[in-house]
Amino acid sequence: MTAQPFDRAANPPRRPVLVLSALTCAALTLAATSCARGEDEAAGSAQSSGDPSAQAQVLDDAAGSEETCTVGQYGGEEFDLADTTVGFSQSEAESNPFRITETASIEAEAEERGVELLTANAQSDFAQQISDVQGLISQGAELLVIAPLNSDGWEPVLAEAQREQIPIITIDRQINGDPCRDYVTFIGSDFVEQGRRAADQMIEALGGEGKVAILLGTAGNNVTTERTQGFTERIAAEAPGIEIVFEQTGEFTREGGQSVTEQLIQSEPDIDGIYAENDEMGIGAVTALRGAGREPGEVAIVTVDGTREAVQNIVDGWIHAVIESNPRFGPLAFDAAQAFGSGQEVAVELVIADREYDESNAESELSNAY
Ligand code: AHR
Repeated sequence: MTAQPFDRAANPPRRPVLVLSALTCAALTLAATSCARGEDEAAGSAQSSGDPSAQAQVLDDAAGSEETCTVGQYGGEEFDLADTTVGFSQSEAESNPFRITETASIEAEAEERGVELLTANAQSDFAQQISDVQGLISQGAELLVIAPLNSDGWEPVLAEAQREQIPIITIDRQINGDPCRDYVTFIGSDFVEQGRRAADQMIEALGGEGKVAILLGTAGNNVTTERTQGFTERIAAEAPGIEIVFEQTGEFTREGGQSVTEQLIQSEPDIDGIYAENDEMGIGAVTALRGAGREPGEVAIVTVDGTREAVQNIVDGWIHAVIESNPRFGPLAFDAAQAFGSGQEVAVELVIADREYDESNAESELSNAY
């Protein structure tokens, strides 16, 4: 699927960018709510999502695929989101700021639009997530927003949702299936690009030479695969002097990142760089390096997410750069749902925009981090 850059000239600010057919704010009863509301008003619902303007900003900065889906093609009747019960399934515990901000963004947007929201958290247990979603359906969810733990294994839920004509929007990780048959739209980052941007930062930090370790995310999802692909391909293409000498999963957790880095320091004491596929693992790596008596900057660490603690670690000299993975999916998910319900074409893939932090902006941009 080709993502189209958002055309600002054709789409003035506050217009929902996810709908590719020619529509105006006025044409969308509920999307118009977000079109019309000012940054200040929108900010009120985004307090728990980091920078107050960040929640509203995502609508302007997203890009949509050329391929689209309508409620008619998906199978089902038009609906009004205001009268629809939405079920939200979170995959991982809300201890990671990425998850806290993601859930807060969905909840804030539901509240802003007066939409009834049912929620469940699977605490990183995939069987639990399947039963969570089935539970949401039996509690009356008429539309599902799913942050999937794994990309495969969703058949029982997809079949049930299809039978009941319940539209599914997936956020942050992909469900493997057919767009506009198994799900309406996937909203997430360009994860391959995140890996490339992390590689560029690593190449710059090491001057193109050195030994690098990768702290991989959890297996079984597209985020880990694509962040690894983008990083390794860019290093191979642009920096033959950089050798990737170690790859092990830290399971996207702080504890995992710390214990894997402790092993790394034993097996590769002269390691020059660590690419951690999320901030939590990167912060765990900092703890391990500190514990081993290393100094800030001795090992170049590049991470992905944009949590405030990771960006503070740039200011403190421990982390070289952070590529943002923006978890503020609420505005895009609810605009997509509203547009879809009112019969509009919705892009089957929506790419949220990500910032980047390094020593040039970490201090001044700290408030944008979550
Ligand atoms: O799927 C997104 C990733 O999952 C985030 O980078 C990470 O922090 C989370 O565990």
